[in-house]
Amino acid sequence: MSLIFDNLTKRYGSNTAIDAVSTRFERGVIHGIIGPNGAGKSTLINMTAGSYPVTEGAITLDDTRLDLLAKYQVANAGIGRTYQNIRLFDQMTVLENLEVCFYDREKSGVVAEVLWPPAARRRYAARREKCLDILRFFGLDHMADLEAGSLPYGRQRMLEIARALAQSPKVLLLDEPAAGLNHHETAELTERLAALRSPERIMIVVEHDMDLVMSLCDRITVLHHGKLLFEGTPAEVQASRDVQFAYLGTQNDIEDIRAAAAARRAFLGIRTRRRSH
Ligand SMILES: Nc1ncnc2c1ncn2[C@@H]1O[C@H](COP(=O)(O)OP(=O)(O)OP(=O)(O)O)[C@@H](O)[C@H]1O
Ligand SMILES: [Mg+2]
Repeated sequence: MSLIFDNLTKRYGSNTAIDAVSTRFERGVIHGIIGPNGAGKSTLINMTAGSYPVTEGAITLDDTRLDLLAKYQVANAGIGRTYQNIRLFDQMTVLENLEVCFYDREKSGVVAEVLWPPAARRRYAARREKCLDILRFFGLDHMADLEAGSLPYGRQRMLEIARALAQSPKVLLLDEPAAGLNHHETAELTERLAALRSPERIMIVVEHDMDLVMSLCDRITVLHHGKLLFEGTPAEVQASRDVQFAYLGTQNDIEDIRAAAAARRAFLGIRTRRRSH
């Protein structure tokens, strides 16, 4: 059982942001998606989460065509996500930011809060416990009653991930979870994300922080100009010349960079040495 992209294409007007991408993501695996700015990473996440319509191709989770569903149906099918730019309910508490995932238009509201039958109260208490458990996992439980907008930036990032987990998603999509975090916070995040690896769950992490990606992910998909450039283990990705070129420029650029470095060494009288074994 897996999440499958089949010939997936997204065009914004004449700009093809995702160009016939076919690949699959498996349960129990932490997948990374990397690529230079504008490669189409967020577009992939947004299509998978039902935020942006697909232009061509299909997204299938197990036997469900996600691209044919409305956004709320995609969430109900088991997709949880975070955003590249934090989107929390700033004026609600940390705990309420998780509880809101269970909001039910029919059964919620001020009147219902007062008239709740005992069964509903028990259901609510169980959900609250579950949300508190998740907050505990992210080291946020002692902040449960604080306004989300008042948390330091790094904690807000953690809260976004906690919220994405509240509904026990089958697929967890994280769009640049380490953006704006300092070195210490990124290390903490990497550890917590590693602990979320589960045979039940597909994790997909879009990230620019290469230390995080290389140490966390089991498999990495590289996008470049909307196309699938490379897929493999972290070691294979690091060894790929295609990937190096995508990040550093064209082969000519690389030759220019090498030539410039050699000229600088010659000018400064520096000689390169090989490490002796
Ligand atoms: N809502 C949108 N409307 C129009 N064009 C968009 C929209 N979102 C993205 N694009 C374009 O699609 C292409 C891919 O953008 P996308 O945001 O998916 O890249 P990315 O890989 O997430 O980049 P970054 O690393 O900077 O976050 C870019 O050319 C971008 O300008
Ligand atoms: Mg992006």
